[in-house]
Amino acid sequence: MDQEEQDSRYRRLRARVARLTDPVALSTESRLVRRLDMLLIVWGVLGVLLGDEPAFAAERPLLVDVPLAGFILVFLIRLWVLPDQLGHEMKAAAATRLDWLCSSRGLVDFLGAWAIPAALLCGLPAEDADLFGVLWVFKLARYSQGLSVLWRVIQIEAEPLAGVLFAFMVTLVCAAVLAHLLERTAQPAAFGTVAMSLWWTITTLTTTGYGDVTPVTTAGRMLAGLVMMSGIVVFALWAGILATGFSQEMRRRAFLRTWDLVARVPFFHAVGATVIAAVAQRLRAREVCAGSVVVRKGDAGDCMFFIVEGGVEVHLPDASPRLGNGTFFGEMALISGAPRSATVIATRTTQLLILDIADFRDLAVRYPELSQAIHEEAQNRRHCPTAEGEQQDAEA
Ligand code: CMP
Repeated sequence: MDQEEQDSRYRRLRARVARLTDPVALSTESRLVRRLDMLLIVWGVLGVLLGDEPAFAAERPLLVDVPLAGFILVFLIRLWVLPDQLGHEMKAAAATRLDWLCSSRGLVDFLGAWAIPAALLCGLPAEDADLFGVLWVFKLARYSQGLSVLWRVIQIEAEPLAGVLFAFMVTLVCAAVLAHLLERTAQPAAFGTVAMSLWWTITTLTTTGYGDVTPVTTAGRMLAGLVMMSGIVVFALWAGILATGFSQEMRRRAFLRTWDLVARVPFFHAVGATVIAAVAQRLRAREVCAGSVVVRKGDAGDCMFFIVEGGVEVHLPDASPRLGNGTFFGEMALISGAPRSATVIATRTTQLLILDIADFRDLAVRYPELSQAIHEEAQNRRHCPTAEGEQQDAEA
């Protein structure tokens, strides 16, 4: 085997591993790799939590060392395939790797892999070094959409949140001064200075209420009632702002995700950004696994499907044409109003986009070119069932 062939084999292997470990790839294999990574993280975090329990002392290698070895391996693999995944053509591989290492994600992976070995090398006892495993919990952040949404919401809603925080601080300071004035004679040990009465004000305003310090004068108790109510209002405002921002951000992300899927369907390539935006608002994403019946012959048709990635088989009396990426099905029942003409079954894990009948009709009125293309395809299928199927098969 000459050098060139060896190089090309090496590049092919690296590209394949890059695809497998791509954090956004939709293939079944890369999803499996992500699930295994998640499992490893949960395993590691549980290991750190249970590792110093006397009952699990003998299991330490299994609880901590195995996930640690996994994280080191994952880190090295990620570093290796990074130039293929990020694909900065103008940048050298080393620069791409350095950029990634300086990113929050790279840093978490780096520390997750090397903090414990470094602590052990520095002479820390194993049970103390293992505590660095707590860093593994940050790896979960990449799989939690909720965390990144929360961070984004805090950024977007920073102004109203800061406004409520300001109101909280003003109430806190005023209440602390008032409590000091009203209670200092009766309870000098707890309210003797403004700083001392701050402790009572904070526990009351946050509605924690330890009860270690309580006002004893009538005026002091009236103040306590006001502080408690202000606390509830402040936290209700915070929760309201966050909840509204959260739901807006989730809707925005769902729209962007659908947009991304729609843009991958070749059928929509010709129609332009405006139509894609209109369609993306109406499509729902759904994933089905191999063998799922997506459409059953004879059922009433209330939606049609676009295949983003995957494949389905249409079960007709004389043939079983296959449809692949970028094609659609389920349109005939919507056009004719008749029951479903065939059963359609997914041949592998398939990412679909669903268009409901009401939206189909609405889009047909607004974008006749879209509707015409769908009608023409339905016509072809009605007249020439097998030929069309063979063509789709070849494409898939
Ligand atoms: P519908 O009748 O709503 O439900 C079954 C679907 O199978 C149908 O819409 C078409 O989308 C699809 N279908 C029917 N016949 C063919 C064919 N010959 N080739 C490809 N797809 C077909």
